Amino acid sequence: AQLHDLATRAGLLYFGTAVGESASQQDQAYRRIIDDKSEFGQVVPENGQKWESTQPSQGRFTFTQGDITANIARQNGQYLRCHTLVWHSQLPNWVRSGSWNRQTLTAVMESHIANVMRHYLGQCYAWDVLNEAVDDSGQWRDSVFLRVFGTDYFPLSFNLAKKYDTETKLYYNDYNLEYNGAKTTKTVELVQIIQRAGAPIDGVGFQAHLVVGSTPSRTNLATTLRRFTSMGVDVAYTELDIRHENTPLPAPASAQITQGNDYANVVGSCLDVDRCVGVTVWGYTDKYSWIPGTFPGTGDALLYNSNFQKKAAWTSVSSVLAAA
Ligand code: G3I
Repeated sequence: AQLHDLATRAGLLYFGTAVGESASQQDQAYRRIIDDKSEFGQVVPENGQKWESTQPSQGRFTFTQGDITANIARQNGQYLRCHTLVWHSQLPNWVRSGSWNRQTLTAVMESHIANVMRHYLGQCYAWDVLNEAVDDSGQWRDSVFLRVFGTDYFPLSFNLAKKYDTETKLYYNDYNLEYNGAKTTKTVELVQIIQRAGAPIDGVGFQAHLVVGSTPSRTNLATTLRRFTSMGVDVAYTELDIRHENTPLPAPASAQITQGNDYANVVGSCLDVDRCVGVTVWGYTDKYSWIPGTFPGTGDALLYNSNFQKKAAWTSVSSVLAAA
């Protein structure tokens, strides 16, 4: 059986993937597996809903890129995760370097959130409202939003999102939470700030951009997820990939086995935690991934190789789901 079917039988809501906008339009072999709902019951646009794509200049909204994946989800009957509203990156210069005060930046955020959420109203299972607001040293991440509002933009973002879509799940989403270090602790504080302000937050997304051989154990991952579910929010793995580092690529069989075990630990930890709703991989084939561009010489982080063949990691994920 395929991964989404196995995942739902194991009690998860979905097993999903990010969709590369241009690959999904130009590569039929790529698209065929995206369209297999028994494999991926959930999709998320890799880039198309980000601020630079949806409002590249002030007041000009364009949904051509974001609609690619939304249309795929509708045609296939897949859950759509929506990504992302407030983020320091892929944020156009007009926002990034504007000279804003609280009033003017609130208006800009409200207009953005209103227009984008209204366009996708009724289509998103969840929205990543706020993305990557904590840096890797465990400090609030510097951004135009932090400079204008301090931490007040955390509850502000969630209140605005709720105003324009009362039904979708509202998520905070970040990476390197999996290691349960200073960044994770600061993120617990972020959730508390939102909750104490009386603002709505439904979930925390663990991106899980991980490294073969350095992925925490299933038990430790589950413990970390529970730091958040104990605050009354759902959790999900939202951007899972596990890259080879310091390994010549294509990786030798032994490294691919290790990668498979790491994948099984991540997926297994979601199965172990009551409010872990699902797992999303950040792309499914090594033919297309953000990793080699950002970390040159590393990669092969996904479940299928670049010829669309299932890797050991795929088998390992299917086994852990089947065993649940
Ligand atoms: O679309 C343009 C194209 O027109 C141009 O010719 C080309 C030249 O560089 O760039 C293309 O844009 C690229 C875009 O991806 C679409 O492919 C950008 O340069 C590139 O920076 C961008 O990278 C994306 C990255 O976010 C940007 O931060 C990756 O695809 C995407 O996978 C990655 O995803 C993020 C999540 O949103 C948040 N969490 C981390 C994750 C990985 O970085």
